Amino acid sequence: MSILDDIETIKTESLKEVSTVDNLESLESLRLRFLGRKDGHISKVLQLLPTLNPDEKKQVGRQANEVKRALEACIEDKKRLLEDASLNQSLSQSALDLTLPDRSAFRGKLHPVTQTMDDIVSVFSRLGFNLAEGPEVETDFNNFTALNHPPDHPARDAHDTFYVKDLRDASGAPFLLRTHTSPVQIRYMKSHQPPLYIVAPGRVFRHEAVDATHSFVFHQVEGLAVDKDISMADLKGMLGLFAQHLFGSKARIRFRPSFFPFVEPGIEVDISCTLCDQKGCRVCKQSGWIEMLGAGLVHPHVLRGVGYNPDQVSGYAFGIGVERVAMFKYGVDDMRLFYENDIRFLKQF
Ligand code: PHE
Repeated sequence: MSILDDIETIKTESLKEVSTVDNLESLESLRLRFLGRKDGHISKVLQLLPTLNPDEKKQVGRQANEVKRALEACIEDKKRLLEDASLNQSLSQSALDLTLPDRSAFRGKLHPVTQTMDDIVSVFSRLGFNLAEGPEVETDFNNFTALNHPPDHPARDAHDTFYVKDLRDASGAPFLLRTHTSPVQIRYMKSHQPPLYIVAPGRVFRHEAVDATHSFVFHQVEGLAVDKDISMADLKGMLGLFAQHLFGSKARIRFRPSFFPFVEPGIEVDISCTLCDQKGCRVCKQSGWIEMLGAGLVHPHVLRGVGYNPDQVSGYAFGIGVERVAMFKYGVDDMRLFYENDIRFLKQF
């Protein structure tokens, strides 16, 4: 019976081909050739079934289906084999070359001045102070007038202050780049009632020549406390704690009389040089002390100006020079290094 012979031939040929095929595309075309629904050799045989008598039909049908199943299984096995092989091959080709030198990526981090500012703020926030902010472009009123600067005060001189060209407020007064963070005191007091304890970090601007200890833009952290019966003792206690938190338990502070129009009395505060244990070094210029901030008790004029009653509340304020603290902390003796942003310098922090 020739149909059965044909089936046998299909079987031997197809199995032989499957065993020699060496890639997935050829295997697929082989599958279509033998098992394809319409044109495959097996389908062709099965299409003949209606023309056969019942006996042949049964025999041919059974035989053809057997070959079909055997071939399907065989192709499936081969497919898996070829897939494994191609996976292994691509794995071995794309394997890491461990002899290549690495290209380690630079990781960004905060600028040392920002780190220092964050450190200062975090010390005060642990001591119970809230965070406040104000704009860098300020009114003359907040920056000077409300802070008890008489109209002829030298700080108003155009040589110290950057005025914003062509920009004036409703009273005709010019806008300026704030010369200190103290105007945030005014903004905060106007919108809050005592008791209040705040720190306000930020950038400030002064029309100054750049040198090792001066810059036309630098950073301050302003502090303000207004409550009942606030005195110099509170200020001294708080700044002492601050110094110890930031520079270690050995740090001491000292007060020197000074003048700022918006505080009375006004002081400057030095911190003992913890780099040399006050024996004298390059950073403290052999003095054992580092000048770090201005402070004082809030002037009654300022309190009255924001609507507080100086007979009922009093306050202290301080302004910390962030660059100064950073220079001390890291033993940097030239402020300009902080602004040049030379990656070799910044990488050290
Ligand atoms: N604002 C002052 C300055 O920039 C510093 C200061 C702040 C002094 C608060 C007293 C109280 O020089």
